[in-house]
Amino acid sequence: MRYLLVTILALSVSAFAQTDEQRASIADRIKSFSTVCVAGEDCGGAPAGADMAQASLPGEAKYAGCAACHGANGGGGIGPALVGRDTDYIVGRLTAYRANEQVGAQSALMWGQAAALSDEDIQDLAEYVTGF
Ligand code: HEC
Repeated sequence: MRYLLVTILALSVSAFAQTDEQRASIADRIKSFSTVCVAGEDCGGAPAGADMAQASLPGEAKYAGCAACHGANGGGGIGPALVGRDTDYIVGRLTAYRANEQVGAQSALMWGQAAALSDEDIQDLAEYVTGF
C-alpha cells in the first residue's frame, strides 16, 4: 500500500513537472496578442511610421489648442474638418483670420486664435495639419 501511494505521488509530481522548453511554449501560447493603448499613454514599442513623422513636427505642439474645435486628427467639431486640405489652403485661411478677415459666418471664432500666430507658426501648423 505504501509503495502504491509513493508511486501515485511520484507520477502526479512528474505530470506537473515541466521542462523550460515546455514552460516557454506555454507562455508563448497564452501571452496576449495585443495591448490596449490609450492615447497619450506611453505604450512602449515603436510608433507607426506616420506617427513618428508627425511627432517631430513643431506644429504638433502648436496645434494643441486647435484640437478642441478641429479634433485631434483634424476631423472637425465646433470648427470645420481640416483633414484633406493642402498647405496653401491652410496658410491662406490662417493668414486671413490673422488679418481679421471674414471668411465664413463664424470667422470671429478664428480671429482670436490666429491673432498671435507668426508666419512660422502658420507654416508649422499647416505642415502638421496636412499630415492628418
Ligand atoms: C473656438 C474654436 C476654434 C479653435 C480653438 C480653433 N478654431 Fe479654427 N475654426 C473654427 C471655426 C468655427 C472655423 C470656421 C470659421 C469661419 O466661419 O470662417 C474655423 C476655421 C478654421 C480654418 C479654415 C477651415 C476651412 O474649411 O476653411 C482653419 C485652417 C483653422 N480654423 C485652423 C485652426 C488652427 C490652426 C487653430 C489653432 C491655432 C484653430 N483653427 C483653432 C473654430 C476654432
